[in-house]
Amino acid sequence: MTILQSEITVGSEVFETNKKALLAQIEEVRAVQQKGVERSYAAKAKFEKRGKILPYERVRLLLDADSPFVELCGLVGYNMHDDKDGSDAGGGIISGIGFVNGVRCLVTASNSAIKGGTMAPMGVHKTLRLQQIAMKQKLPIVTLAESGGANLNYAAEVFTHGGTTFANQARMSAMGIPQISVVHGNATAGGAYQPGLSDYVITVRKQTEMLLAGPPLLLAATGEVATAEELGGAEMHAQVAGTAEYLAENDADGIRLAREIFEHLNWKEQTQSLEVDYKEPRYSAEELLGIIPSDPKQPLDMKEIIARIVDDSDFFEFKGEYDSHTVCGWSKIGGLHIGIITNNGPITPQGAAKAAQFIHLCEQTRRPLLFLHNTTGFMVGTDAEQNGIIKHGSKLIQAVANTTVPKISIIAHGSYGAGNYAMCGRPLGPDFIFAWPNSHVAVMGAAQAGKVLRIVAEGKQKASGMEPNEQMLDFLEQSTAAKLESQSTALFNTAMLHDDGIIDPRDTRKVLIFLLETIYEAENRDLNPTRFGVSRF
Ligand code: COA
Repeated sequence: MTILQSEITVGSEVFETNKKALLAQIEEVRAVQQKGVERSYAAKAKFEKRGKILPYERVRLLLDADSPFVELCGLVGYNMHDDKDGSDAGGGIISGIGFVNGVRCLVTASNSAIKGGTMAPMGVHKTLRLQQIAMKQKLPIVTLAESGGANLNYAAEVFTHGGTTFANQARMSAMGIPQISVVHGNATAGGAYQPGLSDYVITVRKQTEMLLAGPPLLLAATGEVATAEELGGAEMHAQVAGTAEYLAENDADGIRLAREIFEHLNWKEQTQSLEVDYKEPRYSAEELLGIIPSDPKQPLDMKEIIARIVDDSDFFEFKGEYDSHTVCGWSKIGGLHIGIITNNGPITPQGAAKAAQFIHLCEQTRRPLLFLHNTTGFMVGTDAEQNGIIKHGSKLIQAVANTTVPKISIIAHGSYGAGNYAMCGRPLGPDFIFAWPNSHVAVMGAAQAGKVLRIVAEGKQKASGMEPNEQMLDFLEQSTAAKLESQSTALFNTAMLHDDGIIDPRDTRKVLIFLLETIYEAENRDLNPTRFGVSRF
């Protein structure tokens, strides 16, 4: 046992300053989340008049009471496309991993209380990410559908990637991942293929309108007059077309049927039960608030973080004497083994080589990897270049990309430049990646980017025989830095889908235990693949 010893003075002036700043950042994120939820609930009267349950309530009914639920990509699209005031974040979908009738599932629900559940481009990219997670973690998908399909203001951006979501559905059916859809209302065009490509479809009497073209479009296109009920009603699909396997009486009944389907899947009996004993960390997660620096430029000692995340604060460091900037070692979280890689400074050639070697060891013993990002990037300068930073850095990226063990990333502080790749940022394919509200992800620091463009512009002015225009150069430097700063925040990155969500640092251990259990189940589950997936005749 190697127990980490904390050197933090709880309650010191720095501690309290940090805590105040971080609580404000957590509140900022929570306020954005709340705004979206309130906008969805604002449609209560409209839904009640139609005899319908609101989207968030549908999800609540679907999930097992008092069971854990980890939301995924909740703020994607924040302030993007036609999200004018930040209340439309989430890509038109409420989603996460939770338990349905005792089975761990990927749950998605059209947020049909906002813009008819239509999908803007980030909603499509979110769907692709959710599908990637379901495929990797072998999770059944339950969709509570009610969507007008593509957001027609962005039709061109949605069309092609939207098609890939359908291809993925077909592949998942063939992989042996069951997909269950309850069609609570409108499912037009693209919105109709989503349930159509599911393995189980439940329609809801007097509510479902699953059709390729509604009455007005049909009249305009062919001159035919037909009602929505005739074209895509619940009974029609259950009794005539055969698109639906089950006919529900109302929203709640549809959700009940979706839950009942799990009684008859082979999922529960195949779930490897996990009974492990573990101790809580020796230091309180509350203390994270005062440890994370309020100034992003201040260093953060990641061993203080590890001490508040891992079981019993027990961290068996690997090569602790060899380069202190890159920290690697073994721990357990929730009783499950994990290899941790983190940074206490820039990644040096030695640090890169050490981390790559550690990844090879984790691969040899099949230990999942946890990357705790806290890096300004790879070391630059003559020393670093001559010591082979490109060689060792590239090979670290190669090890991260090629390892087959599960990878989880937490963006704890800064994650800059190729250091983000080396630490398994989004482009390197982590199984899960979450960010803290204080974190920054960018190609480089904002101030440095401003200076670089200033030096380049100044050089150009001099080369053309001009006197440097200081006013113009000041403006260029400041505006570049301001732009990069605003584009490196946690809210900006989560909106762009560079992570799977922002979490309160105090919840990190809880989330990690949930994710590691999800990964454990996937690693121990055999699917029953078929060549073409399940047919519907
Ligand atoms: N693209 C963009 N915005 C759309 C949209 C679409 N396909 N469908 C609806 N919206 C917007 C509406 O303009 C309205 O915006 P607002 O809140 O700013 O006023 C909002 O979504 C809600 O629409 P509304 O019609 O009031 O809600 P509803 O619950 O009564 O009906 C639909 C929702 C989806 C059934 C209905 O709007 C509809 O039939 N839309 C067209 C669907 C379609 O043909 N899609 C083709 C996709 S390929």
